[in-house]
Amino acid sequence: MCGIIGYTGPLSAKRVLLDGLSQLEYRGYDSSGIGFFDSDFSVKVIKTTGKVARLKELCRDVPEEVHCGLGHTRWATHGGVTQENSHPHQAGRVTLIHNGIIENCHQLTTDYHLEGKLRSQTDSEVAAWVLDALYDGEPLSSIRRLIPLLKGSYGFCILFSDHPGEIYAVRNVSPLVAAYTRSGSVIASDLTALIPYTRSYTVVPEGFVVKLTPYRMTFYDEEGNQTNAETMEVNWDTDSARKNGFPHFMLKEIHEQPEALKNTILPRLTQGLPDFKADGIGDELFRECSRIRIVACGTAMHAGMVGRALMEPLLRIPVQVSVASEFRYEDPVIGEDTLTIVISQSGETIDTLAALRLARERGSRVLSIVNVKGSTIARESDYVLYTHAGPEIAVASTKAYSVQLAALYLLLCRMALVRGKMTREEGKEFVKDLLDAVPAMDAMIGQSDVIKTVVRPVVSRQDAFFIGRNLDYAFSLEGALKLKEISYIHADAYAAGELKHGTIALIADQVPVIALATQDSVFSKTISNVREVKARGAYVILIAKESAPVETGAADAVIRIPDLHDRFTVFPIAVVLQLIAYHASVLKGVDVDQPRNLAKSVTVE
Ligand code: F6R
Repeated sequence: MCGIIGYTGPLSAKRVLLDGLSQLEYRGYDSSGIGFFDSDFSVKVIKTTGKVARLKELCRDVPEEVHCGLGHTRWATHGGVTQENSHPHQAGRVTLIHNGIIENCHQLTTDYHLEGKLRSQTDSEVAAWVLDALYDGEPLSSIRRLIPLLKGSYGFCILFSDHPGEIYAVRNVSPLVAAYTRSGSVIASDLTALIPYTRSYTVVPEGFVVKLTPYRMTFYDEEGNQTNAETMEVNWDTDSARKNGFPHFMLKEIHEQPEALKNTILPRLTQGLPDFKADGIGDELFRECSRIRIVACGTAMHAGMVGRALMEPLLRIPVQVSVASEFRYEDPVIGEDTLTIVISQSGETIDTLAALRLARERGSRVLSIVNVKGSTIARESDYVLYTHAGPEIAVASTKAYSVQLAALYLLLCRMALVRGKMTREEGKEFVKDLLDAVPAMDAMIGQSDVIKTVVRPVVSRQDAFFIGRNLDYAFSLEGALKLKEISYIHADAYAAGELKHGTIALIADQVPVIALATQDSVFSKTISNVREVKARGAYVILIAKESAPVETGAADAVIRIPDLHDRFTVFPIAVVLQLIAYHASVLKGVDVDQPRNLAKSVTVE
C-alpha cells in the first residue's frame, strides 16, 4: 500500500524523489520521507507525518547536487502515524524503505536481540536491523541471506552507507518496477513514478536482487548469478497520470470512461463479435467449464456482482461471487470444471491474489481481468484480459469499474455464443447495445451540474440508502460504496423489496434514498418501494430511463438516463452514482482523491 521510489543518476535526486512521491501519494498518505547520500557521502533522512506537501517544505534546503536517494509515502500498518514510524528507517549502515508486512517481525526482534535498538513500532525497522546484523560489506550476499529469514510481503529499497550512489532492491509479492534510462536509474512501487523518465520498464522478478547505479541496472537471480529480466513497454502516456485541468483526479477519471470503454472493447471485436484470440484465450476455456466463480474486492467485486446477475440466467450454469478476503474460509467447491474469474484494477490486491492461488491449487483455471500490465495477479493467472483504462490515480475507483464491466460483458457474449445460448445475430445486437452505452455515459457526464444540485440536500445527512431490484441492486452496491468512501456519509445498498423486512425503520424525514429503477421488468415493483419510503418522509432521488413513466411527485428529484436495453444501463448509472459521490465529497469539503484511512492498491491482508 505504501509508495516507494529510488533514484540514482545525474538529475537532482531531491526533485525526482519528491515528484515521484507526489505521483505515488495515492498509495498511502499518512507520512512520508526521503533518505539520500549527502555531499559528504553520509546518508541523511528527512521524514514527517502528513502529506508529501509537508515533506517538500522540510526538504527546501536539501541541495540540488544530491544524486542518489530513496523516498517513501506510508499507509500505516505496524505502528501509528508518527514520525518515528515513518520511512526511511536507519539501522547501522542500512537505510531502508519498505512496502508490505513482515509477519515474523516479533520473532526476528527476539532472535536478533533488537529490543533496545528499535526506535519505531514498525516491522520495517526490524528488517533494517536484521539486514544490518547480516551485513558484511557485501550488499548482494547480505540481502540474499536476509530473504529466507523473512515471512510476509515486501518491496525493499536499500542504501548501504559504504556504497554511495548505489541502490539495492528486492521484493516478494509487493510490486517493484525499475528502469535504467538516459537520466539515470529509477525504481518505484508503480509505474506512475517512472513514466516521466521512460516508457520501458522491468517488473523486478520476485526473489531477484536488483542493483541500481547511475550507469546501469543489474539483476541477480536467487543463486546470485547476474541475469536478465524482461523489459516491458508502458501502454499509457505521461498525461494520463496528471490532472490536465480537472480539479480532481476522480473527476478526470469519470470523464475518461467513454474513451476507456472503447479502448477495452474495440480491439476485441472481429466482425462485430467479441474475439479473445489476441489475448491468447481460446473458446475451449468457455466450452469446458460447468461453473464460474468470480473473486474480487470492493468495487471490482461489485463489477463481479453485475457479471453474475447477467451470466447465470443467460449461460444456465452456476455463477457465484466471493469477496476475495473470505474466499479461503468458504472452503470453496472448485475444481477443473470451474472457471475462476479474478477481477482487480491494480493486479496487486493481496486478498485477491491469495484467492487466485487457492483456486489454481484446486485445479481451477483462472482468467483475470486486470488493468495494470505485468502485475502479480496478471502474471499468476492462466489467462489475462487487460482492461485499457490507463492509470487510475483517485483512490475511489471509477473508470476501472466501467472497463471491468465492459470486459465481463464481452466475456458473457463470447461464452453465450460458444455455448449456444446466443446466435451470431443476437451476439452482434448485444455488442451494438454495449457500444451504445458509450454515448450514454457521455450524456450523463453532461448532467454533472444537475446531479450536483440534487445532491445538495444529501450532504448534511448522516446516512443514505441506495435501493434497486435485480441488476439495479447490483449497481446500487457500488453507489453506496462510492458515497461512503469519499463523503464519509454512511450509505447502504438494499434490494428494494428487502426494506420492509427491517431497514425501513430507519427511513424518516429527509433521509436520502437513491432509488434505481432502470430495469423494465421490475420497474413498477421498485416504484412501489419508492412510494413506501416517500410516504415516510424520505428525500428520494430516482434514477430511471428517459421514457419510464414516473408520476409527478413520486420522487423529489428524477435523473433520467438514456433508453438503453436493461442489460446495459449500468454504464450511464455508474456515471450518475460516481457524480453523486463526487459532488457530495466536494460540497462537504473533504479530500476527494485521497479519502481518510484509505489507499490505492491494498497489499495487506
Ligand atoms: C473503491 C476501490 C476499492 C477497490 C478494491 C480492489 O473505490 O477502489 O474497493 O476496488 O480495493 O482493488 P483492485 O481492483 O486493485 O484489486
